[in-house]
Amino acid sequence: MRICLFSSKRYDRDSFSAAERPAGWELHFQEARLTLDSAVLAAGHEVVCAFINDDLSAPVLERLAAGGTRLIALRSAGYNHVDLTAAQRLGLPVVRVPAYSPHAVAEHAVALVMTLNRRIHRAVNRTRDGDFSLHGLTGFDLHGKTVGVIGGGKIGQVFARIMHGFGCQVLIYDPFPLEGLTALGARQANLDQVIAQSDILSLHCPLTDSSYHLIDAERLGQMKRGAMLINTGRGALVDTPALIDALKNGQLGYLGLDVYEEESELFFEDHSDLPLQDDTLARLLSFPNVIVTAHQAFLTHEALGAIAQTTLDNVAAWAAGRLSNEVKSGT
Ligand code: NAI
Repeated sequence: MRICLFSSKRYDRDSFSAAERPAGWELHFQEARLTLDSAVLAAGHEVVCAFINDDLSAPVLERLAAGGTRLIALRSAGYNHVDLTAAQRLGLPVVRVPAYSPHAVAEHAVALVMTLNRRIHRAVNRTRDGDFSLHGLTGFDLHGKTVGVIGGGKIGQVFARIMHGFGCQVLIYDPFPLEGLTALGARQANLDQVIAQSDILSLHCPLTDSSYHLIDAERLGQMKRGAMLINTGRGALVDTPALIDALKNGQLGYLGLDVYEEESELFFEDHSDLPLQDDTLARLLSFPNVIVTAHQAFLTHEALGAIAQTTLDNVAAWAAGRLSNEVKSGT
């Protein structure tokens, strides 16, 4: 079995090399992102293992299939970057890692909330520079505030439980009825209520046609003035230029992003020697009340270990004639 891992970093090598796999399986780590040009690197590999910013559009899938690829094993939960219809047409099953550590992502969302609220990013820079003044660093008690969660699945529920622990009231919007929310200290509400009542709004739903630009200028206008928005879901859940307008006029008080709609050309790589070409991101980074992390919410030892093991287990299941954690078009 030959497995080609695109977009692989040092931490992927470590976690996949430590995971259990049958003897004789070859793991070929490619630093390159999967694109139409780099797809040739997978020639002769039965399995292509891809990450979230790899290109799995129809032309790339066609090239992979022509090169002998028989399975796409995503090492992510999200699969919005895969043309599932094309994969099905080409007879290429797609499997994923539906859950690895909801705690990793939820805890990172909480880290963004805490950093923004208590202005830790500014305080650290100040003390390093010998500036021990406190002006502009005033935060607010989380206790008693209302937290809105959009998407009450695995990650949203862990986030809800943590925020309830701070003494917040938690409202969750999800298109499907959710059970067991009382135990999390949360209750389900409709989207308008969650948006209008939240002091902190955190996005934990998948990117689909119905959630594309879910937070746009109109919805930003319905939020409490000065509220905080956190997005660890997917970049295109928000309309980024609308966020910039809302930050400029003070409607949005704080913004924490781990994902960005145009992240695929930037995130996971060191571009620090070059001028930033993305003017929208550059504008976002200029606000003192905005922090951006480069899609690192999943990055814990526990999550990486679980991603590697589930991915290899998915491949083993496929090799044994079964499909585990398959994603199909229309799911
Ligand atoms: P999940 O499948 O357990 O939960 C998603 C929930 O969102 C479900 O309850 C679903 O009913 C709900 N939902 C679907 N469409 C919705 C809509 N239009 N509005 C509101 N809710 C909607 O997924 P999980 O594991 O909680 O992950 C959520 C998302 O987090 C993933 O789809 C992925 O995009 C993102 N993610 C980000 C990571 C990061 O490193 N930043 C890592 C892992 C996931």
